[in-house]
This record gives sequence, C-alpha cells and structure tokens, in this order.
Amino acid sequence: MSKITAAITGIAGYLPEKVMTNKDFEKIIDTTDEWITTRTGIKERRILEGKPTSEIGYHAVKRLLDKKGIDPLEIDLVICGTVTPDHTFPSTANIICDKVGMKNAWSFDINAACSGFIYSLATASQFIETGKYKKVIVVGADKMSSIIDYQDRTTCVIFGDGGGAVLLEPNTDGLGVIDAVLHSDGSGKQYLHQPAGGSALPASHETVAKRQHYVYQEGKAVFKFAVTNMADVSAKIMERNNLKSEDIDWLVPHQANLRIIDATANRMGLPKEKVMINIQKYGNTTAGTLPLCLWDWENQLKKGDNIVLSAFGGGFTWGAIYLKWAYNS
Ligand code: UT7
Repeated sequence: MSKITAAITGIAGYLPEKVMTNKDFEKIIDTTDEWITTRTGIKERRILEGKPTSEIGYHAVKRLLDKKGIDPLEIDLVICGTVTPDHTFPSTANIICDKVGMKNAWSFDINAACSGFIYSLATASQFIETGKYKKVIVVGADKMSSIIDYQDRTTCVIFGDGGGAVLLEPNTDGLGVIDAVLHSDGSGKQYLHQPAGGSALPASHETVAKRQHYVYQEGKAVFKFAVTNMADVSAKIMERNNLKSEDIDWLVPHQANLRIIDATANRMGLPKEKVMINIQKYGNTTAGTLPLCLWDWENQLKKGDNIVLSAFGGGFTWGAIYLKWAYNS
C-alpha cells in the first residue's frame, strides 16, 4: 500500500471587521505611520471586539465546512494553535467544536505562540499518517489585542487579531505534508513572555496594577533570534529535501516583521513573487498568520506546488514545514 500523507484539502480564514490603522496609533501613542511602516511593513491590523478567540476559530471552521459541504459530525479531531485561549481551560479547540457542532471530534490546543500553526499542522499530520484519522481540522487563531499593552509602543503596533483553519485528509499520491523541522528553546522566555496569569504569577491586584498580564517583548533581541533561526530552519528543510530555490513555488512565512521575511526569502534565494506577504493588512496575528496567507493566496495555488511554511515565535519556538499542495481551486 502507498504511504499515507496528510494533505490540506481546504482552507478558510476569518478577520474581524474593525480596522486599526497606523494613523489610529498616532492618536494614542508616540509613534508615526512612517516609523511603523519602515520598521515593520505594517499599515493596519484587525481588532476583535467583545468576542473571544474561539469566535475566530468558529467562523473559519464554519466557512471551511460550508465551502467543502462537509457535515461537522464527520470531523475526527480538531487542534487549535493559540496563545490567547478563551480560558486556561477548557481548551479553545474544545469550545470551537461545541460552537460548530463537531460532536464526534476530540480536541486540544497547542501553545507555541507564533509557531502555533506549524506545530499544530505537524502534530495533526501524524494522526492522518496512522491511517486511523480521515478528517482533521487545524486552526491557527489569536486575539492578540486581549494581551497587548496599548501603552507599550514598541510592542503594540505589530500585533492584530485573526486566524484560519485547514482541513487535512489522507493522500496516497505523494501530496500533502512531506517534512517538518521543529525546534524550541525555553531560555528565550526572558525576551518574550506574558509575566502574569499563570501558576508562576497568578492574577492579583498587584499583577494588574503592574500591567503584567500583557506581552513583555524585548523587540531587538527577539528580532535577532528570529532572523537567524527562521532563515536557518528554512534553509535546513530545503537541504534535507534536496530542494533548490527554483524547485520552490511558494514561501509562506510568519508575518512578524517584513525585514525578517525578507531575510528568510534571501537566504532561500527566492524572488519576492514567490513569497506570501500580507503583513501590511493584518500585522502579526501570531498563530493566525500562516493560514491567513494560504487563504489569501488559495486561488493562485496549483496541485503539486512545492510550499515551505516557516515561523519563529515566543518560547522560543520555530520550525518549517515542506508540503505539496493537493488541489486546484
Ligand atoms: O512574532 C513573534 C516574535 N516577535 C518578533 O518577531 C518581533 C521582532 N522584533 C521586531 O520586529 C522589532 O524589534 C520591533 C518592530 C518590535 C521594533 O523595531 P526595532 O527596529 O528593533 O526598534 P527598537 O526597539 O530597536 O527601537 C528603535 C527606536 C528606539 O528609540 P531610540 O532608543 O533609538 O531613541 C525606540 O524607542 O525606535 C523607538 N521606537 C519607536 N518609535 C516610534 C520603538 N517603537 C516605536 C514606535 N514608534 N512604535
């Protein structure tokens, strides 16, 4: 019997309607549209008001199932990459299953910050490859506005809310996820973390007063690690799979900073036309960036396209996935 691989057979995304532009930031912090654009590539981002992260997942999965004409009861497993879960427990994946009516699925979250989608996709693929699972959904969604300090100008301008979902199904024609290279380094915590709200520092009047429930990021340090590691891991996955620049149809990079994306693409020897970039519209939606790119570009993807997904994020976590696209739109 031919080897079973996990192929993406459908995708959908969700973005909240509210748009926050760089000009809007000029009204609340000491910044300029020019600084944000030149340092990050971001022009605007979306903000989800009054609803939790599961709402992003719910809309994305509902759109995906409607588009594919699939009954929610057919789904076996749902994995959600997020660092902004609705609650510490139950998992956001669990809540999405309830909202959508995926009553036969079991579900869990993966906490890997900006690498959340890559980690979740790699994990989900293993279940498909066993032959036991036929329909698995991977969600990458974050409501970063719920943990961002809008008084911290170095951090608040880069993040936004949104996400997407993909359907994974077994494939025996060599399409789908071919390889994954994944890494983590917990010593990176010092540069990027959420200080309070977990068991290390439970919520108290003091933690709230000290603004410790917001993302703490040393941008410059994170930038250096991100540039090196995202480029290295992308080069590594090319080397491991004997891929030359000309063999790659698309790079799907995490959208944290245009300068990090450019460095990764240069290291891989890829021209701009092969790189998915939508950071100017949505900013950094953490686990949401990669499915949102695939969703935006879905109509341009062709069966058999060689695609490399690459990400770096808090933890530190980073990795790359090489997959062959499985359908024409
Ligand atoms: O996706 C998860 C992983 N996260 C990342 O990948 C983020 C990686 N880091 C970055 O993308 C960049 O470090 C930032 C965009 C966060 C910051 O850009 P930077 O070029 O590293 O700026 P910086 O922090 O070194 O600050 C340079 C200057 C400073 O002023 P002085 O000290 O040179 O006078 C900052 O105070 O820019 C100032 N600055 C700002 N000025 C206007 C910082 N933020 C702003 C701002 N508007 N929003």
